[in-house]
Amino acid sequence: QDTSQGFAHAKAILFGEHAVVYGSPAVAVPLHGLGVQADIRRSPHQETRIESQLFSGTAQTAPEPMDPVVAGLNAALKAVGDPDAEVELLIRSAIPHSRGLGSSAAVATSVARAVANLHATVFDENTLHEIVQAAETVAHGRPSGIDAWAVAKPAPIRFQTGCAQTIDVGQRLVFVLADSGHHGSTAEAVGGVRARRDADPTRIGGMIDRLAALTDAAVDDIRSGDRATIGERMIEAHSLLGEIGVSTPTLDSLVDAATAAGARGAKLTGGGLGGCVLALADDDDSAEELAEALRKAGAPRTWTTEVRPT
Ligand code: MEV
Repeated sequence: QDTSQGFAHAKAILFGEHAVVYGSPAVAVPLHGLGVQADIRRSPHQETRIESQLFSGTAQTAPEPMDPVVAGLNAALKAVGDPDAEVELLIRSAIPHSRGLGSSAAVATSVARAVANLHATVFDENTLHEIVQAAETVAHGRPSGIDAWAVAKPAPIRFQTGCAQTIDVGQRLVFVLADSGHHGSTAEAVGGVRARRDADPTRIGGMIDRLAALTDAAVDDIRSGDRATIGERMIEAHSLLGEIGVSTPTLDSLVDAATAAGARGAKLTGGGLGGCVLALADDDDSAEELAEALRKAGAPRTWTTEVRPT
């Protein structure tokens, strides 16, 4: 039996999480070292089976946390004109879930790409995006769509109101990502910000506007390769994210540990209330020192990633 494969990588948001939900821009970077592989083949049985870390069994008996995967699979099969196909799907992911790293979007992207491969085709990027957004809507309610683009594009992107553009990077940037060890719920974090914004539109709205301004300024810094300024803006963005209520003492202490260890800047990344901290290093050697300092400060694991001029 022929097996077809699909891949996708994780992502980290560098600027603009939460503000992006209100139409502001955001910047995301790919995490090429962390990914998902989906293997798919036509089922020899009369049923669709899914095997993953979370669940193994028939699609019909899959528990609720698998709903986004099933939604993505069905949307992809529909898009290739094979909606009633019965398949066997194996998902292997190295991306920890609920850490703001886009694991749900990456799983859906890998599954969609595997389905396209099974049909000896590839989805154009807009079709792929719609399929992944169908899965993301089941996973997170009303996602902005940044994750769906960020896990599918190989370069850093600037995203705003549904559209993603690749950013031309002026200078190599090395980042260290540190896991706080705590799950974050994107839906809960987004809901909390919305409630606080409704209660105090002037103050919270002003902070969201400031996050948007930081994002736009940072896009220029990334293009020109101004590492020091990017770092300063990360620190300001973290403090604003704290003020809109999505940081935690653990995230704050990891940010402090990163800056004390020589990071140019550091901030929480993604939804917050848990998840990860992203720190900007000067070079590969300082990234190693940073990673060690972050693990000493309590991060159960760290990853190093880079973006390069094209
Ligand atoms: C999730 O990676 C980022 C948030 O801005 C939510 C969203 O964009 O849908 C918190």
